[in-house]
Amino acid sequence: MQPLLNIAMRAARRAGDIIVKSLSRLDSLKVDTKGRNDFVTDIDRKAEADIIATIRRSYPQHAILAEESGGSGEDEFRWIIDPLDGTTNFLHGFPSFAVSIAVEQRGRLQHGVVYDPMRQEFFTASRGDGAQLEGKKIRVSTQRTLEGALIGTGFPFRADAKYVDEYLSMLKLVMSTAAGVRRPGAASLDLAYVAAGRIDGFWEFGLSPWDTAAGTLIIQEAGGRVGTPSGAEYALGSNIVAGNPKVYEALLEAIGPLTPAALRT
Ligand code: IPD
Ligand code: CA
Ligand code: CA
Repeated sequence: MQPLLNIAMRAARRAGDIIVKSLSRLDSLKVDTKGRNDFVTDIDRKAEADIIATIRRSYPQHAILAEESGGSGEDEFRWIIDPLDGTTNFLHGFPSFAVSIAVEQRGRLQHGVVYDPMRQEFFTASRGDGAQLEGKKIRVSTQRTLEGALIGTGFPFRADAKYVDEYLSMLKLVMSTAAGVRRPGAASLDLAYVAAGRIDGFWEFGLSPWDTAAGTLIIQEAGGRVGTPSGAEYALGSNIVAGNPKVYEALLEAIGPLTPAALRT
């Protein structure tokens, strides 16, 4: 296995252990509010510090972009870290959250790990090597249409909350066409599920680079597609549409025209 992927997995497992151990004392966690309905706990910070320490032991010179502590260093390699994706779920003991770690080299994603510590599932990919779940190759689903598809999404609740009516018209169209729509609440895991064929497509507005870096590489390596709501190439920080190739196209066709100009890229 690639040494960088190995370190990313080690860091994710350690962070996952920290998160799971803390579930028994959720009531005593220190919770801060970053914005309306946007929370951070001492566990997010502790997990992030542990991930960064693990990386630094092997790669002290690499740059880092981490959700809670921000960016540091300049190097051709950069680690992009969400130590706990799905903090609101975690705070409620709702078992859908993940650790997401990606490595890019000269701005190109090379490795991605999404780890679900509750199910102890590792979704991984290295560029050109395909995508794996627990070491076994995964592929996106073979569903061909939006009819019959299971679609994941995330509800707008931050700056994008002002577009809730536009979002609801998309949701209405997708839910009246697809077999089902899910909003589990951890974007990195949603993307990993697209890669594993557990959902056929996904869209969300307002995600950050640490939510999507690992998941988008894992989808592409599993044969799926990732783009913006206008069908342009996805770049970290864009609004996102993803899926197996057919459902990706169908989802774009459905929600693209309903997407306000400000959310198209
Ligand atoms: C959040 C989750 C959620 C998504 C939010 C993200 P966090 O991450 O991924 O599914 O809808 O936009 O911010 O804040 O729990 O790391
Ligand atoms: Ca996140
Ligand atoms: Ca987070």
